[in-house]
Amino acid sequence: MQYQQTEAMKQPLRFGEGKLYWINTFGCQMNEHDSEVMAALIENLGYRPASSLEEADLVIINTCAVRKKPEDKVASMLGKLYALKEKNNDLIIAVGGCMTQQEELAGYIKNRFRQVDLVFGTHALPRLPDLLDQARREKATILDIEEDYAERGGLPARRAAAFHAWLPVIYGCNNFCAYCIVPYVRGRERSRKLEDVVAEASSLADEGYREITLLGQNVNSYGHDLPDKPTFAALLAELNRIDGLSRIRFMTSHPKDLSPALIDTVASGEKICEHFHLPLQSGSNRILEKMNRRYTREQYLDLVREIKKAIPGVSITSDIIVGFPGETGEDFADTLDLLEQVRFDSAFAFIYSPRRGTKAEKLADQTTYEEKENRLQELNKIQQQISLEENERLVGSSLEVLVEGPSKGNPELQTGRTRTNKLVHFPGPAEMTGKMIMVRVTEARTWNLFAETEGELY
Ligand code: 5AD
Ligand code: SF4
Repeated sequence: MQYQQTEAMKQPLRFGEGKLYWINTFGCQMNEHDSEVMAALIENLGYRPASSLEEADLVIINTCAVRKKPEDKVASMLGKLYALKEKNNDLIIAVGGCMTQQEELAGYIKNRFRQVDLVFGTHALPRLPDLLDQARREKATILDIEEDYAERGGLPARRAAAFHAWLPVIYGCNNFCAYCIVPYVRGRERSRKLEDVVAEASSLADEGYREITLLGQNVNSYGHDLPDKPTFAALLAELNRIDGLSRIRFMTSHPKDLSPALIDTVASGEKICEHFHLPLQSGSNRILEKMNRRYTREQYLDLVREIKKAIPGVSITSDIIVGFPGETGEDFADTLDLLEQVRFDSAFAFIYSPRRGTKAEKLADQTTYEEKENRLQELNKIQQQISLEENERLVGSSLEVLVEGPSKGNPELQTGRTRTNKLVHFPGPAEMTGKMIMVRVTEARTWNLFAETEGELY
């Protein structure tokens, strides 16, 4: 089903003609993709990308609400935009995303930052052109945080990379982990129809995209809400048949419902990359239960064993929360112990950040912030050593890499990604961008690999 046509879609508005836009994105890949959709919608209004924030006629901030830090960054950015608005009264400032889907925060932004013209939530994305039209005509700040569960497929996207594309397969989340704001700001799970996802992936392949990453807060629950209940494994198997695509990635997998069929499909699908992002969150059964994660450390370890047995060379990455309310030294030691047993290729660790309206917000918490910081540092130190050791095992081996462009640190080197999602730097000309190449790993570091080229694939 296509998204219902908005007024702006019916009679193309072109008020952005000759004007420039700038989008600032905070948060996860789903937000990055939402920004790509915003970019396409506003380019349809005539806007073109600005090369700096200062020269833009329209600034959109796509916010993240998962922790306090990204929220603070938005507030500080809005403060800075005040000066720009003073200089250019025609500047339109819009704030959207997960922060603004919360009524209280949307109201706060609207009232506290008078320079903002439009505040819109995650559900308002398809209405963005009409909302901007309204915002430019009216003096008062426009607010749209209405919940709307309509199918979002069919919206255009202006993809940031020429060879890699994000492709959402399921929106929202039903899991209500005790610490997490996502179910409140992204709503309940809505899967896109299998044939729609396959059609979009095929047209991406026709347009020359080599790699797609399927997105969902929990891709494993894909399909349960569709009439014929296709599984995520079935979707992957379907996508694996598309000619022209070289790599299929997916994230994120909730450990509680990662099926044996999915492991088999990743093992056998030649385009499906050998990488699982499998957030652990905690290694303590007591804390996992309080978090409402619905698996135990033993079940997690069994799952990792199954994955590693079935898929040689697989990489497993994770997210971990340190200092969840009531986490004792012993609970934390359980997490460190699991880190040593699993040996993640990498793991992102975060200090627990209380989120308004979640179950964990009300839990008593005796641990000081300083102690939480100490735990975070200790965990990161251990994980970084593990990441380095896992990378060192790859020295001397040949790996297939998709070249992303010149290395940020050294423009004489090219940067690419392995199927296991590791960054590799190697010498080569800029024309390699978007190509597949075989490289031999010469040096391992904690966050990346160095290599020499062995020959171009295609
Ligand atoms: N505090 C800290 N980290 C959080 N995450 C989600 N909610 C919170 C929170 N309230 C982390 C989880 C999740 C990742 C995307 O962000 O580890 O997997
Ligand atoms: Fe948040 Fe849990 Fe849903 Fe992930 S699975 S988005 S952590 S509620």
